[in-house]
Amino acid sequence: MKADFDAGGVPVIPDQLPTRITELLGIGWPLLLGGMMWLSDARLVAAVVQAGGMGFITARSSRTDEEFREELRKCNHLTGGKAFGVNLTLSRRAEQNEVIHRRMHIALDEGVRMFETAGLPPTPLLPSLKQANALVIHKCAHVRHAVAAQKLGVDALTLVGVEEGGHPGSNQLPTFLNGTYALEDIHIPLVLGGGIGHGRQIAAALALGADAVMMGSIFTCAVETPAHGAYKQRVVATDQHGTRAVLGSLGDTWRIIDNENARKVAEIEQAGARSHSEFGDLISGERTQALAYQAGLHEEGMLSMGPAVGFARAVEPVEAIMLRLKQECMVACQRFGQLLPASMT
Ligand SMILES: Cc1cc2nc3c(=O)[nH]c(=O)nc-3n(C[C@H](O)[C@H](O)[C@H](O)COP(=O)(O)O)c2cc1C
Repeated sequence: MKADFDAGGVPVIPDQLPTRITELLGIGWPLLLGGMMWLSDARLVAAVVQAGGMGFITARSSRTDEEFREELRKCNHLTGGKAFGVNLTLSRRAEQNEVIHRRMHIALDEGVRMFETAGLPPTPLLPSLKQANALVIHKCAHVRHAVAAQKLGVDALTLVGVEEGGHPGSNQLPTFLNGTYALEDIHIPLVLGGGIGHGRQIAAALALGADAVMMGSIFTCAVETPAHGAYKQRVVATDQHGTRAVLGSLGDTWRIIDNENARKVAEIEQAGARSHSEFGDLISGERTQALAYQAGLHEEGMLSMGPAVGFARAVEPVEAIMLRLKQECMVACQRFGQLLPASMT
C-alpha cells in the first residue's frame, strides 16, 4: 500500500488496490456501497461499479417484481455488463420476507451473482444462493453473529459498528473496535462499515486487517442518488453531530438525521412507547420515501444516516466522491509507509 505522487504532489491512484474482497468480487478497489432502502437504485449502484467499487441494489425498494426486474436490467445496461450486487434485507415481518424471496429468484434469473444479506441470519436464503453459485456477503453488527454466519458458509462478512447509518443493531461498539475483535475469530474476507466517509479511514481499515470498507451515508447526496435536491442540501448541511439513534428501547436501533420527525419519535419513545404501532406513520418507510426523498420535505421521515455524513460536503457525482476517497487513502498509505523502516517497504 505505498503511494506514488505526480510532479504536482497529487497522489497517483492505482487502478487496483487488491485484497481478498477485490479478488472475490472482481473489482479494482475495496470500496463497497451498502444497500440503501429507496436510494441504492440502478443508477447509483452502476456509478459505484463504474468507479471501480461494488454496490448493492435494495431488493425491496421497487414497488413491483416487474419494476425490480427492470431496475436490474437498467443496471446491467449502465455498467455495460459488469457485475453488480443486490441487497436482501430480511425482516421480522414475514410478509416482507416473501418479497425478498421472490426478488432473490428474480435477481438470480437475471444473472446477478453477488448478494449482501442483512437484517437476520441468511439461513433461509442460502440454499438457493449457494445452488446458483452466488457470492454471499452477510452484514451484521455483533462479532458473535459474524462467527455464526461464518459457520453457515457465507463467502464474506461485513461487520458494522454503532456509527452505522440505518440499523446498527444493539451492538454498542464502534466500527474499529468491533472489527479488531472480529479479526481474532473471522477467517473469511471481512468488510468493515459504519462511520466511514474519508480515505484516511479506508487506509486505517486495511491496515487493521480488513479486506474492504462498506459505506452508505457518504453517498446519500451523490448526484446519482434518487432523492430530491432539498434532501441532498439537508445532507450537506448536516455535520457529524447531526444524527441520533432512536428505537433502541424496542430492540430496533435506527440511526437517522436528527430532524423534526426524529425528535417526535424520540419524545414518544422517552414517554414509554414499547411497540412500533405507537409511533404510527412517523416511522413508516413509505412516508419517508414520499415526503422526504421524493418531495424534499427533509424534516419529515426517518432519514437513515450516520456521522460519516459530516464528510459529505457537496452534492457531487459518485466518480468525484470515489476519486477523493482513493486519493485520501493513498495519502494516508504514503504516511504510513514513511513510518516503516526501509526494509519493510
Ligand atoms: C439511507 C440509508 C439506507 C439504508 N438502508 C439499508 C437497507 O435497506 N438494508 C441494509 O442492509 N442496510 C441499509 N443501510 C446501511 C448501509 O447499507 C451501510 O451498511 C451503512 O450505510 C454503512 O454505514 P455508514 O452509513 O456509516 O457509511 C442504509 C444506510 C443508509 C444511510
